[in-house]
Amino acid sequence: MLSFDRFFIENADRFDGQSVTLKGWVYNKRSSGKIKFLMMRDGTGIMQGILFKGECEEQSFEEFEKLTQESAIEVTGKIRKEPRSVGGYEMGISSIKTVSIAEPYPISPKDHGVEFLMQHRHLWIRSQKQWAALRVRAEIIRSIHEYFDNLGFIQFDAPILTPNSCEGTSTLFKTDYFEEEAFLTQSGQLYGETGAMAFGKVYTFGPTFRAEKSATRKHLTEFWMIEPEVAYMDLEGNMELGEGLVSHIAKTVLEKRAKELTLLERDVAKLEVVKAGGFPRISYDEALKILEKRGLGIPWGEDFGAPHETALGEEFGKPVFVHHMPSQIKAFYFKQSDSLFGPASETTGKYAFGCDLIAPDGYGEIIGGGQREENVAVLQRRIKEHELNEADYQWYLDLRRFGSVPHSGFGLGLERTVAWMTGVPHVRETVPYPRLMNTLRP
Ligand code: 4AD
Ligand code: MG
Repeated sequence: MLSFDRFFIENADRFDGQSVTLKGWVYNKRSSGKIKFLMMRDGTGIMQGILFKGECEEQSFEEFEKLTQESAIEVTGKIRKEPRSVGGYEMGISSIKTVSIAEPYPISPKDHGVEFLMQHRHLWIRSQKQWAALRVRAEIIRSIHEYFDNLGFIQFDAPILTPNSCEGTSTLFKTDYFEEEAFLTQSGQLYGETGAMAFGKVYTFGPTFRAEKSATRKHLTEFWMIEPEVAYMDLEGNMELGEGLVSHIAKTVLEKRAKELTLLERDVAKLEVVKAGGFPRISYDEALKILEKRGLGIPWGEDFGAPHETALGEEFGKPVFVHHMPSQIKAFYFKQSDSLFGPASETTGKYAFGCDLIAPDGYGEIIGGGQREENVAVLQRRIKEHELNEADYQWYLDLRRFGSVPHSGFGLGLERTVAWMTGVPHVRETVPYPRLMNTLRP
């Protein structure tokens, strides 16, 4: 028998009425007269154990008294259904074996400040809500691979050490690379485009970096991004692919992580709306009109801030795609047009063929993407306008020289997606070890 084939709390229903050994840790304990309650965790969940005089070894009572929070234990007893208990099952303990006694544990059930908890992130992840959010994260990752796999995409890994920028030069992390300078990747997109021309439809899945001095609840300096890129796909197709992905994620989380969502007190009715799809698609110009009507007007050409994104979410009560943004706030690689829905422009167009998905309830931009410029001369001009060094982009320009086709893709931010699905307000709790402007440890 494989050692991980043993009893785990998440499979308690398969062991109803059986005697098993739970290998785990003390979550907490309490006594009520002659009965002792031991809350145990094993990584897959929490279970209440009950010690009754006469039902368990005398020695176990002595062990119970010695146990401290997070002490390691092997507890044997009978599993029985108990609807009033966490998880619906409990254990009638027959014996307790102590594996190791924990020193006084720094995290108690009382309230701690976030700063303290962040310094103890290596222990904090054992706490229920953190544990639940990271379980949802793992499930979301799995569901993303599943979605693309079902559509025949192949995973195409982009490098992390790169010689050039993708999303502008202001947020690059520089590093020494032997005799030259390199940057931590901001996005795998440019490499993803090479993959699309070689394999038709690909997606990258990896860490990306932004030296962004934004201390908001939506910004990490290191975050994970999923970037599909598809040959012969236009902007419309891009939004379809993005909507399909996001609703598949919501569906999976609702089905597979219901317990965790309950623990996190997530309003699941909101996720049912996401699962149903049918996300509105509006142009930037239409979005501006809505914002004006709501007293949040901005001059044409400006990017949305958090209040604008929140207002758009409120307007529709659903995630909404905003497309055709002003080219002046977009990266060099977008296809552009002079008029809304007009033909592609060779000079700098007014509109970029972009599409951002804005999540409701202030979770902000979840997806950013669009259709790429496929004309080599136009792209060369844009690289100059953005004051980038053309020599660094020769391999990228080659895609436009050798069998250029219309193509599109997008990037989905994993942590923002997890925050939204779980209802956790800040992205720092959606990744095991967040990297923020002022957080590099542990
Ligand atoms: O909109 P962005 O910057 O788009 C790109 O990087 C494109 N190259 C993607 C593509 O077309 N292949 O980033 C995409 C998404 C955002 O919508 C957001 O969800 C997430 O990545 N994101 C961040 N998440 C956490 N912290 C940050 N600092 C983020 N910056 C972007
Ligand atoms: Mg963006």
